[in-house]
This record gives sequence, structure tokens and C-alpha cells, in this order.
Amino acid sequence: MKEKLSKIRLEALEQIASPDANLEEIKIKYLGKKGELTAVLRGMGALTAEERPVVGQLANEVRESIETALAEKMKELQAKALDARLTAEKLDVTMPGSPAPVGHIHPLTRAQRELEDIFIGMGFSIAEGPEVELDYYNFQALNIPENHPARDTQDTFYITDNILLRSQTSPVQVRVMEQTKPPIRIISPGRVYRSDALDATHSPLFHQLEGLVIDKGITMGDLKGTLEVFAKKMFGEETKIRFRPHHFPFTEPSAEVDVSCFVCGVKGCRLCKGEGWIEILGAGMVHPFVLSNCGIDPEEYSGFAFGLGIERITMARYGIDDIRLFYENDERFLEQF
Ligand code: DAH
Repeated sequence: MKEKLSKIRLEALEQIASPDANLEEIKIKYLGKKGELTAVLRGMGALTAEERPVVGQLANEVRESIETALAEKMKELQAKALDARLTAEKLDVTMPGSPAPVGHIHPLTRAQRELEDIFIGMGFSIAEGPEVELDYYNFQALNIPENHPARDTQDTFYITDNILLRSQTSPVQVRVMEQTKPPIRIISPGRVYRSDALDATHSPLFHQLEGLVIDKGITMGDLKGTLEVFAKKMFGEETKIRFRPHHFPFTEPSAEVDVSCFVCGVKGCRLCKGEGWIEILGAGMVHPFVLSNCGIDPEEYSGFAFGLGIERITMARYGIDDIRLFYENDERFLEQF
């Protein structure tokens, strides 16, 4: 029996020492209820009275040494596992982080916000109007009756005979005048539509910003002053503006407004196509017919209006030569702004 116990100890310790030891299994195999050591102890009844305490003591020693070896091995394995984890999860806080790509504001949105800031700074507030508009607001109330030639240059998309996608932001003027008593000082940025084929300078969808000021005693001088402040803020303090006579059905008199080229002054360069000036907007004194259409007495009130293309201004500013770049969302273009 003594040899049996020694053999059990030897075997168990050997197994525990092996690198791929399964400690739980070994424990059951030797110390478990049906384990080998237990089996030996059960057989102790057959021993003589002298042998019994000797074998009993040996059996206890064997058990203890197996238990100690198991516990030590367990500790060792846990320490190893912890070590391995610490190595694997080691974090070098001095390494450069992996960049998280972040998008940014589209150049048109940025231009629009900048325009808004400039005009808000001059006391304007922002008005909005629908993109799906009635013929009345887009044309008739603006002094463009059916069959007026101005409709040709602003051909748009029709939902029905008298519902269309607005071809300009000017209808917002009418909506605001109908609902607000002067003094009025608003801008209205937004999408407009025209039935134009897409090319380098035309798009069936683009953006305008409308401006409207109505009060007693408003003159062309107020229009000039306002646009001059705007042009200097937008294009630089050196900027000059120039009014050229023009015709719009909803203003009288009307003008097209140019800014001096901010690349060459007025010498002429590639950006201004040798002109020295860049056209940026249409403007004029609100036509008395339009005022009366909106319930405002033209004898008592006068005002000015202007409308600019946000794409056009952004293209001029950055020397962008193709309007399609704004809508293609090619990152190589967008990330430059
Ligand atoms: N709505 C005109 C266009 O789309 C631009 C314009 C011209 C707006 C003169 C105005 C204005 O308010 O007074 O071509």
C-alpha cells in the first residue's frame, strides 16, 4: 500500500508539473470521491492495527503534497495568464492616434451662412418661402403676367398649370410684404429651379439670396450704401461697386451690380475675363405695382430689392470655373474649402 501511495504521489506531481496540465481533472482523478487516493484510503480496513496509522499518515502527506502542488500550479498559471494579458493589452499612450475622418460644411452652405451673417449684422432678418410655389407669387405678383417674355428666361418645372418650382427667391418678397407691415428688412436665401440643362455655368437647381427693404423714404442711395457695405465685407475693404442700368419687371429703376475684381483690382485678369469687374447681383427700387399688389401704398412707402446667386458669388470668390463641382460631392473638390 505504501508503494501504491508513493506511486500516486509521483504520478500526480508529475502530471501537475506538465505544462499543459488540466488541474481540475487531476484534482478529480486523485482527490475526488472516486479518485485514486480515496480508493486507497477505503482499502485501509484490511490493514493491521499497526500498519493503519502509518499508512494513514502517509496518505495524508500524499494528499497534502498533491493539494499544495495543485495550489501552487494554479497560482503560477494565473500569474502567467495575467502576464500574457498585460503584454497583449499594453497601450502605448504616446503613439499617434488613428485619425477619425470628419466632414465639414459644404462651400455653398458656408457662403450662405457668411452672407446671412453680413446682412444680419446690418439689421436684416431671415425670411423663408416655399420652393413649390404658386405662379402668382413667382410671376404675376412680381409684375410678370402670363406671356411676358421674362418667363422665357426663367422657364421652370411645373407641377400643374399654376403650381411650379420657384425660379427665383423673389416670390418671398411678395409673401413677406403681404404679411408684414413696413418697415421691412429681410433676406431670404434658398433653392431655386430652372429648366436649364446642366453645364459648366447652368444647373437646374441652384441657390439665391433675396433682399428686401421697405420703409418711408427709402431711396436708391440706401440700396447703393447697403450693397457697398456688403461688397466690402464679402470681397474685401478695397472693393468698389458699379451699377449698370438693366431691366427687371419687378423693379424700377433696375440695375445689374458689379464688384471690382478682387484679384486684379480693375486691371483685367483671368478671373474677371479681362473686364476688371465681376457681376454679382440684380437690384432695383421695388416697382409701385408690386407694392400695391401686396397691399402697400406706393405713395407712402418705397423700397429696394436685390437678388444674388450664391453659386455665382462662391465661384467668383474661389475662382471655381464649373458649377457642377458643387453638386458632385467629390471629396477632392470639397476638402479644399
Ligand atoms: N430674381 C432675379 C433673378 O433671378 C434677381 C433679382 C433682380 C432679384 C432684381 C431682385 C431684384 O430682388 O430687385 O434673375
